[in-house]
Amino acid sequence: MTKLNEPFFDTLWSSLPLPGLVIDPDNRIAEVNTAMETFLNLSARSMQGAPVWDKLHVNAPLDEAVTRIRRDHAPLFVNYVDVGSGERPPTQCNIQFSTLIDRPGFILVLLKPREIADKMGQALQTKSAAKSAIGMAEMLAHEIKNPLAGITGAAQLLSMSIKPQDQELTDLIVAETRRIVQLLEQVEQFGNLRPPERQAVNLHDVLDRVRKSAAVGFGAHMKIKEDYDPSLPPTFADPDQLVQVFLNLIKNASEAQPLGGTITVHTFYEQSLRVRRPDGNRVSVPLTVEIIDDGPGLPEHLSGDVFEPFVSGRENGTGLGLALVSKIISEHDGWVSVTSVPGRTVFRISLPVAPKDAP
Ligand SMILES: Nc1ncnc2c1ncn2[C@@H]1O[C@H](COP(=O)(O)OP(=O)(O)O)[C@@H](O)[C@H]1O
Ligand SMILES: [Mg+2]
Repeated sequence: MTKLNEPFFDTLWSSLPLPGLVIDPDNRIAEVNTAMETFLNLSARSMQGAPVWDKLHVNAPLDEAVTRIRRDHAPLFVNYVDVGSGERPPTQCNIQFSTLIDRPGFILVLLKPREIADKMGQALQTKSAAKSAIGMAEMLAHEIKNPLAGITGAAQLLSMSIKPQDQELTDLIVAETRRIVQLLEQVEQFGNLRPPERQAVNLHDVLDRVRKSAAVGFGAHMKIKEDYDPSLPPTFADPDQLVQVFLNLIKNASEAQPLGGTITVHTFYEQSLRVRRPDGNRVSVPLTVEIIDDGPGLPEHLSGDVFEPFVSGRENGTGLGLALVSKIISEHDGWVSVTSVPGRTVFRISLPVAPKDAP
């Protein structure tokens, strides 16, 4: 077998189509590839040795993320981050961080600039023309749900008067119809453009609501543990939307382990976290909730894409759960990240504190 040699890896690194760099244990830039030079419009030479966040301007608290990666040795994915060199308007990217084998403290950072489909998605959220497209999807979803109710009812009636061996078929109709209804409900929810109605909210009240409904429903087979910091001040959020966020996360963790496992809900205050809002203002997001499970971890082939709509690793999944989480949290000026290795998956949500005069 011929071994691949170093020059080969140099070539590979410089022809990699994704902007990438490697940071050293002091968070200085050690290596930069050609795609990154093009992306930032900066030369490798001007970047090497510089503190990484001096050259890579981002609107998310990634410094802390990097510390966490070194500690946990797990890759980390952060979506919807604005990245630029500070000179040109930033580009929205998904970022992937990985530790390097045999190079302790060094971290590979890969950017995935978000592409056209995404941009359409964004436009869909903001532009009025697009509002009507989402409106149409919602209307269709609504219109399809009505006849589906009829189909289910008819199948149930039919099942009473047919041979037992044919009942499997009516059961199938009922089950599959229910699945379509669930999908449509998620589409309706995703298209729901209602901006959050924000108020001062106690995160633990929200989490208790979620725990209760998980415990009697989809999470009945899981052990759910609390690890709360009771002194957390209220956050500024739409409580119903937050319930939706944590329900989705706990549901995913439960579905990852059909035979049961443990989910830990961890809340704490993380002083230094700040995110940059679209208007340029920085918001501090110290209120942190982690949903941790001891399941098999994210399927490797999905890695950083789990927050994208319609990306699912499950046969009957819609792939809308985490897309909705991501959308709701970004509308709350918060941020969400995930780290996952087999046996430990952590979804982390960071939110701002309610202003003193909040209702
Ligand atoms: N806690 C978890 N453990 C393992 N895999 C997960 C977890 N959460 C999410 N995933 C993966 O991410 C995918 C996307 O999740 P989601 O957006 O909620 O869509 P869906 O649940 O409909 O598949 C899931 O299908 C699953 O493969
Ligand atoms: Mg889900």
